Amino acid sequence: DMGGHDTYMHKEISEQAEAVDRVLRGRIDDRFSTVHLGGLNLDAREARGVRRIKILGCGTSYHAGQIGAQLIEELARIPADAEPASEFRYRNPVVDPDTLYIAVSQSGETYDVLAAVQELKRKGARVLGVVNVVGSAIAREADGGLYVHAGPEVCVVSTKCFTNTVVAFGLLALHLGRTRDLSVADGRRIIAGLRRLPEQIADILSREDEIEKLAEEFTGARSMLFIGRVRGYPVAREASLKLKEVSYIHAEAYPASELKHGPLALIEPAMPTVAIVPDDDLLEKNRAALEEIKAREGKILAVAHREQEKADHTIVVPKNEDELDPILMGIPLQLLAYHTALKLGRDIDKPRNLAKSVTVE
Ligand code: F6R
Repeated sequence: DMGGHDTYMHKEISEQAEAVDRVLRGRIDDRFSTVHLGGLNLDAREARGVRRIKILGCGTSYHAGQIGAQLIEELARIPADAEPASEFRYRNPVVDPDTLYIAVSQSGETYDVLAAVQELKRKGARVLGVVNVVGSAIAREADGGLYVHAGPEVCVVSTKCFTNTVVAFGLLALHLGRTRDLSVADGRRIIAGLRRLPEQIADILSREDEIEKLAEEFTGARSMLFIGRVRGYPVAREASLKLKEVSYIHAEAYPASELKHGPLALIEPAMPTVAIVPDDDLLEKNRAALEEIKAREGKILAVAHREQEKADHTIVVPKNEDELDPILMGIPLQLLAYHTALKLGRDIDKPRNLAKSVTVE
């Protein structure tokens, strides 16, 4: 049942304020400025013993894991990184008993992720799952974890589950942070930021008309560049994947800092750039990148917290705490991918050559 929407993708994008409310519900502890995650099966002493975190997933779940790794490093100061589960599995990785492994999957059935979990467990590692489908294979195989409570996602292209997974990582990072050196004041600041998300998401979604109009300008593009720095880079990667999957327009994501090391050669009027430009300590750096692109007559769409002079158009999104900004900045780009694909007459809920859950190698 699409509940009045023409596609599941549109329905699922539109459900994100409620979905985020669900992942937060019942988990926040205001007294200690932390969160309770009952299914983690990791007591405070064990949490303190974690020396490193390795996050594994595929596609969109891998990108959510990249933001998750940054949140964990920022809030808990535990070294963390994300890697595609498929790559990890085939490189005979060093499995370290002081590392906490986290498998991320919407379906909980992706073969490459499941196989990585099984290999890790065979080697005695502790593996948590960040999973949407309750009782799925990865959820059962993991030692513990947290459900992302996005609700059923039917469209092959993942949207609301991405957002909820990133919020779930925010909760995990806060929890780990508060067993370590994250102060009560910072805990409180992050909790307040998390609570603002549903309303801010609703605000972004209410500006769909503006984004729909913008999409018109991208239907003719053969290729697009998505750029961001640090917190903005995984957002750029996910937005680029979304556009590719659903519109079949080629897109590539690059760290904005790498532009002059190669991709600047591609910039010309026919190669539009989408730039993630948060109001954080990298704002001036990001602005410099916009200037470089503009000087080469590249067309720019910025997603930012205020109007960007060098951009041809800015989608202004609400500001949250710096650490949580990535959760919001990708949402208008889900709508951009959707409307671009719609105008091109694509099969939105079932893009060619793709399946919702990849249970084979
Ligand atoms: C992207 C997409 C895929 C999946 C990937 C992992 O929109 O749908 O990239 O994210 O196949 O699937 P899960 O999360 O079910 O393991």
